[in-house]
Amino acid sequence: MRHLLSAADLDLAEVTSILDVAEDMHQVQSRPVKKLPALRGRTIVNIFFEDSTRTRTSFEIAGKWLSADTVNVSAKGSSVSKGESLRDTMLTLDAMGVDCFVIRHSSSGAAAQVASWVKARVVNAGDGQHEHPTQALLDAYSMRQHFRAQAPVTAGPEQGSTEFAGKRIAIVGDLLHSRVVRSNVLLQRTLGSEVVLVAPPTLLPTGIETWGCEVTGDLDAVLPSCDIVMMLRVQRERMAGGYFPTAREYTERFGLTEERLAAMKPGAGICHPGPMNRGVEISSAAADAANSLVLDQVAAGVAVRMSVLYHLLGSDEGADQ
Ligand code: NCD
Repeated sequence: MRHLLSAADLDLAEVTSILDVAEDMHQVQSRPVKKLPALRGRTIVNIFFEDSTRTRTSFEIAGKWLSADTVNVSAKGSSVSKGESLRDTMLTLDAMGVDCFVIRHSSSGAAAQVASWVKARVVNAGDGQHEHPTQALLDAYSMRQHFRAQAPVTAGPEQGSTEFAGKRIAIVGDLLHSRVVRSNVLLQRTLGSEVVLVAPPTLLPTGIETWGCEVTGDLDAVLPSCDIVMMLRVQRERMAGGYFPTAREYTERFGLTEERLAAMKPGAGICHPGPMNRGVEISSAAADAANSLVLDQVAAGVAVRMSVLYHLLGSDEGADQ
């Protein structure tokens, strides 16, 4: 694995390896001394051209806990605001001897472009409305923990299968603007679950019928049959016009309200990538419910990103290429 640009870059063996190593990394989180020497001497630059709290911070913590030197660059205060092109900015940083770029950019395809220019490895931390592969990985990690806690098994899944086989995962809300849904659909296909996409017709991306998922506008009809309900943020900053009449109307039809919480399948988990609009796509009752995985997802984010960085930079092979 040279870069992580898309969830489709990973086959089942690679996904499983990332999730398994993340489990070991997760233990570091509860230690008083949160440090492994694995990436000592490696330099990681987190370059974020879009706002971010959890993704940027968790990549930074992940790099630091693996003993890498991590540097944060944000678009504000960099020479990008002086008019430098993305290519020149990236080639400049690359020339300093960076080993890995973690990049977020508002343009779909930006991370892949950067990967074609630089010598360093590249992790896509969100490119426009396209993909966010580490988010899908941390979602899968949290779901897997949840499935295991729900049904402790001694034997584990059959060879070639996963804990996701036979599971139904609803992804609900602003599918049009969401890179999280795209990466999740690709990753869940590899893991073998069944994904149901729920949104108003105005928030469905064109070509969604080719994604191989059930698509519906009726949240109430699918809720009782889903093992995971993932709510997506209504991305107001990407919305140019009126995709739905009012926030209240949206909540009535597509929000995970307290009533809908009660209609979920017993034992089903609630996910949200954050940041949440409480009272719009998710009620506080649902966000803070016992079966909410929201904070587990955040904790998993650090472990999964440690694992991704380790897979990219930690092996001898990584040092040679
Ligand atoms: C998501 C993103 O930025 O794509 N957030 C995240 O990374 N945790 C989803 C969102 O912004 O709604």
